[in-house]
Amino acid sequence: MGRGTGVARHCVAWLGQPTAEESGGLARAGWSVRVVATDAEGGIGACGGDVVAALADLRGGEEEGLRRAERMVAEHSGLPWIALIAPETPAHEPRVVRLLAGCIDFFTSPLDLPRLLGTLARFGDGVQAASAQSPDMPGLLGQSAAMDALRATLRKYAPVDLPVLITGETGTGKEVAARALHRLSARAARPFAAINCGALPPSLVQSELFGHERGAFTGASARRLGHIESAAGGTVFLDEIGDLPLDAQTNLLRFLQEGTIERVGSSQSIRADVRVLAATHVDLEKAVAAGRFRADLYYRLNVLRLPMPPLRKRGDDVEVLAQHFLDDFRRQHGSRARAFSGAARRAMRAFAWPGNVRELINRVQRAAVVAEAALIGAAELDLADPAAIRMVPASLDCTRVAAERDAVLACLRESRFNVSECARRLKVSRVTVYRLCRKHRLTLAEMR
Ligand SMILES: Nc1ncnc2c1ncn2[C@@H]1O[C@H](COP(=O)(O)OP(=O)(O)OP(=O)(O)O)[C@@H](O)[C@H]1O
Ligand SMILES: [Mg+2]
Repeated sequence: MGRGTGVARHCVAWLGQPTAEESGGLARAGWSVRVVATDAEGGIGACGGDVVAALADLRGGEEEGLRRAERMVAEHSGLPWIALIAPETPAHEPRVVRLLAGCIDFFTSPLDLPRLLGTLARFGDGVQAASAQSPDMPGLLGQSAAMDALRATLRKYAPVDLPVLITGETGTGKEVAARALHRLSARAARPFAAINCGALPPSLVQSELFGHERGAFTGASARRLGHIESAAGGTVFLDEIGDLPLDAQTNLLRFLQEGTIERVGSSQSIRADVRVLAATHVDLEKAVAAGRFRADLYYRLNVLRLPMPPLRKRGDDVEVLAQHFLDDFRRQHGSRARAFSGAARRAMRAFAWPGNVRELINRVQRAAVVAEAALIGAAELDLADPAAIRMVPASLDCTRVAAERDAVLACLRESRFNVSECARRLKVSRVTVYRLCRKHRLTLAEMR
């Protein structure tokens, strides 16, 4: 597992009795196990901060074991707790639900040792966060198959001097990917200019991109270079390319075809050496079909396409990223919270994350501010605990509520989080859309 060589922080306190196979498996992976008998009085014997995690073994099933585990979890709430239950443990009983909610993870016997080792590694001196990071792409964390594939594509695309069209939902890291493409390319030492086409007034787009001559329009008192010319030798990142007005599209196409630009107010062609990266979260094919985007420009831009995976398709990455953002926040501002409860982890895995990584950052930061204890719970992330819902048989009412939430969320996404459009599609009033958002804790500002 490659844990740090410094202080020995790799001991698990096992409240109960591990089997020989379990303790042997842990020992082979470099973990020492301190067995704490459930009937013994006293603490778990954590000395010198050597205990990384504690495990409440509830397989015995006796009342006494449960009572002791409850007390221990409460007394050592700063420690990441893991629960191990038997298949017949009444997991829906309120006391057990409460106990599991305070744990970072729980397992059912027979123990899945590799998964337990993965959970423990997270607390062995930040091993997982470090390994989630690739040295050549420090801003792009994640070790899911989707992120590995993305990194492989970035490495392939970076040295090829062609445009790349980066697509993906809001907050998936399109700009981070564009910067990585630049940094990994031969242009890395030259400028990287990011331009948000949607934020520029249409009348200024041309002059921002291509520059203008003195007197080209009212107020143009001096010649000014545009972003393409000033980024000479580097990369221009055109964000929200779908918002580029048609006349600017024509000039951009000429630049991509011929490598030349004309400043506004001049008919002189100037050679410009810049690689163009473009991003969009709208469906450009639809924009082409609707006549809002030039088909020939679309084909030029679409040679190399980079789809950013949504966070909900990145498996365990959500937990790794959450821990990274929490650690980051702690370093900058401090917080009582140092990890996430099991319920919070389950809730994060179950959530759809419409605002993707940006929404995760926002929720983690807010939770870090309000947290009163060492572990952040699902409520502090403003997420419902899915285990609490799953452990009781799903009633018709619960199913209806979940279906309503899914329908509203899907419609909001299709409407690009435009409330009027969503209301039209759902055939309800705007007020109702706002009410439904409140009811299902869908925060529009975060999703946009
Ligand atoms: N894989 C990742 N690892 C760490 N941080 C990430 C990752 N992806 C995105 N981020 C962070 O998430 C935030 C949003 O990323 P970014 O601005 O690149 O998204 P975007 O796709 O361009 O969003 P939008 O469509 O809203 O413009 C940034 O703070 C970025 O640093
Ligand atoms: Mg962006």
